[in-house]
Amino acid sequence: MDVKEAIQKRYSVRSFSDKKLSSDIISEIIKYAHLAPSAGNLQARDFIIVDDIEIKKELSRAALNQEFIVEAPINIVVCANLNRISPYGGRGKELYCIQDSAAAVEHILLLAVDNGLGACWVGAFNENEASKILIFF
Ligand SMILES: Cc1cc2nc3c(=O)[nH]c(=O)nc-3n(C[C@H](O)[C@H](O)[C@H](O)COP(=O)(O)O)c2cc1C
Repeated sequence: MDVKEAIQKRYSVRSFSDKKLSSDIISEIIKYAHLAPSAGNLQARDFIIVDDIEIKKELSRAALNQEFIVEAPINIVVCANLNRISPYGGRGKELYCIQDSAAAVEHILLLAVDNGLGACWVGAFNENEASKILIFF
């Protein structure tokens, strides 16, 4: 699939089958997420893959109870890495690491399409709650 086709086919999917995703597909998606541009190539973003039903339920609660988060076979939590972006000072922390993360999210969405999968960007969630859930993960 070429890039124009993937962009045209992408849309937010909020309903999922219970089919499991292979680790090969997940690895490929993350590989391409890492290839997104990043400020100074510092890669100030990390990816947490969640497939545990209880953690997905907690993440759903932290995201205003958006139920489809639990239904999705995996949640990819894209985290801005504030330490890695520190060479850029305040602009790095307030802007670049968020932009690095957003660029990676778009790659993830397009790779999902390329693999015949659906996905949805979830931005409506409580960061503090999500952090508390994932710190024990
Ligand atoms: C920053 C951002 C945050 C978003 N947060 C949510 C969200 O929390 N829940 C949701 O269902 N969709 C969310 N979306 C998806 C948008 O609703 C969706 O992209 C938009 O309505 C356009 O539809 P499309 O993706 O099907 O083209 C978000 C998208 C972006 C870019």
